[in-house]
Amino acid sequence: MTQATFAERISHWQRDHGRHHLPWQVSDPYRIWLSEVMLQQTQVSTVLDYFPRFIARFPDVASLAAAPLDDVLALWSGLGYYSRARNLHHSAQQVVNDYAGTFPRERVALESLKGVGRSTAAAIAVFAFGAREAILDGNVKRILTRHEGIEGVSSNAATLKQLWASAEARLPADDALLKPYTQGLMDLGSLVCTRSRPDCAVCPVRSDCYAYLNDCTETLPSKKPRKALPKKHTVMLLAHSKRGIHLNRRPDHGIWRNLWSFPEFADLDTAHTFARSLGKTDQQKTLTPFTHRFTHYQLHIQPLVVRINAPNTEQNWLPVEYALAKGLPKPIRQLIEETFPND
Ligand code: ADE
Repeated sequence: MTQATFAERISHWQRDHGRHHLPWQVSDPYRIWLSEVMLQQTQVSTVLDYFPRFIARFPDVASLAAAPLDDVLALWSGLGYYSRARNLHHSAQQVVNDYAGTFPRERVALESLKGVGRSTAAAIAVFAFGAREAILDGNVKRILTRHEGIEGVSSNAATLKQLWASAEARLPADDALLKPYTQGLMDLGSLVCTRSRPDCAVCPVRSDCYAYLNDCTETLPSKKPRKALPKKHTVMLLAHSKRGIHLNRRPDHGIWRNLWSFPEFADLDTAHTFARSLGKTDQQKTLTPFTHRFTHYQLHIQPLVVRINAPNTEQNWLPVEYALAKGLPKPIRQLIEETFPND
């Protein structure tokens, strides 16, 4: 008897062992789109926490399009990669203005939405409209690389082309399997064919997997040589007073744009000088520095906490509780929670 195809084995495995009843496994394209964008760089367990809150506040694309960007960023706060939230807001307005409030059905039209690349567009087209499209996210790249024994890194154009061709060639012949197959690839990638120590014993496609048969799951996919990220340094002033903590909304460009954060300085002296301009300074201390990684550099942050006894302006002071309801970068939220736990 010939073996079931790759797609059939993945689909059957998904039915028996994959994830079901996730809150975005519905037919509403809005929920599917929202979940796919959230899941681009975030694990399912984290998205399960954010998704229901987002849906409660913005139940449909019209409510999201009409919301102030600040409200969207506040709900996104902590998920990271905030360009996703800005793009989401922009795309909601695109759907309302360019598509009369109804999500387009074609993968190529979905790709016109900001923040939706080919693979995300394909996932939405499959899950919402049953389209015949191939996905190729990080998990799927890993599965195909191992199964087919593809050398090279996926940032290489030729390798990427080979991966897309492989993804398309493996689509199931039977349209009824498109959804379980697509979900199955995602589930297999995050539950079985993991980056390190994949659980090949339970894999439905190991019998013809190159990496399994050649005992090289640890070396495939090949790792891209990692460039050391340049390091930048900053001093953050955590000024606090009876009015709360002193925060700025960051400008509409650069890192953390439009989010709320502490003022930054090149050195402690400049930070002290600024603190004195806020009012009479009292106790102060430096906290243990920490490093935050961005895509292109690492930021070494030295926090300086200063108590201001008599603030001479009302501007920029926020009670901690109010501050925590704003759009805050993850490390800044942590810093506030750890430094001002009882406020
Ligand atoms: N990762 C990306 N999309 C996903 C989905 N729909 N379900 C589970 N994990 C995913």
